[in-house]
Amino acid sequence: MNKQPYTKLSNGIEMPLLGLGVYNMHGNEAEQAVLDSLEIGYRLIDTASLYNNETEIGNAVKKSSLPRDQIFVTTKVATNDQGYESTLRAYDASLKKLQMDYVDMYLVHWPIKAKRKDTWLALEKLYADKRVKAIGVANYLIPFLEELKTYASVMPVLNQVEFTPWLFQKDLLDYCVERDIQLQSYSPITRGQKFNDPRLVKLCDKYGKSPAQIILRWNIEHGISTIPKSANKIRLQQNFDMLNFSLTKEDVALIDSFDEQFRICDNPMDLL
Ligand SMILES: NC(=O)c1ccc[n+]([C@@H]2O[C@H](COP(=O)([O-])OP(=O)(O)OC[C@H]3O[C@@H](n4cnc5c(N)ncnc54)[C@H](OP(=O)(O)O)[C@@H]3O)[C@@H](O)[C@H]2O)c1
Repeated sequence: MNKQPYTKLSNGIEMPLLGLGVYNMHGNEAEQAVLDSLEIGYRLIDTASLYNNETEIGNAVKKSSLPRDQIFVTTKVATNDQGYESTLRAYDASLKKLQMDYVDMYLVHWPIKAKRKDTWLALEKLYADKRVKAIGVANYLIPFLEELKTYASVMPVLNQVEFTPWLFQKDLLDYCVERDIQLQSYSPITRGQKFNDPRLVKLCDKYGKSPAQIILRWNIEHGISTIPKSANKIRLQQNFDMLNFSLTKEDVALIDSFDEQFRICDNPMDLL
């Protein structure tokens, strides 16, 4: 089995760099994907209350032969639940569905203008009460992190954002590295939309690797955690196998230059 790289978060918690994203999978498919991923060696599952599959994720974690403390589970507070008391209630509801007494990482899913401050204070409360191992944010670009700094007692240990070679946000990466905020990339393989980029295809030929493997490996070379979604066992294995090779520094720099501000999801700046 491949050796999993872990990162030590700023609060001392260890987190695998590679995880399984479970957006848009439900029922047996979701349960089986989580079981398959754990069998392959994944140890991080990224869900959200919005994905409406926390029950299936919880079922799979229970069914697996692994102890709970060997699986890193992330979930997120949905937009409709943001606010102080409602976030505390949403956390309890997520735990109930997941059939767990804690999650490893609880994230603010989106920086909703009127609610993000109270939502963050609720996450701080959950953390202070030791009900969650770590707290973080998603879709926080630099202006949102700068704002958060003005009222936070505890800064996020992780920021999950859309981040790909075609959306290479160097300033955000540098900002997070300097402040010990672990960056985590979502939609990391662009849902396949950039697999035919000729510059990527050339690198696939050079390394004898698939487009997904080259892109995922680029994340690891940058120290970025990444959470590709797949409900297919062969592709889950293929994505996991990117842990077995490395890219040259020159090729990492080449991939950095693919940036064209291409986005799959909404631009969080529209919420500022
Ligand atoms: N915080 C946020 O706001 C936010 C937003 C979006 C996503 N996310 C998280 O990030 C995770 C990943 O992002 P995503 O699901 O949007 O997109 P993604 O991981 O970039 O792409 C997933 C798609 O690529 C396919 N795929 C997976 N591995 C492949 C491979 N090796 N070769 C070819 N195709 C492959 C999958 O199909 P198969 O399943 O058929 O393999 C699926 O259609 C989500 O599941 C979610 O957990 C978070």
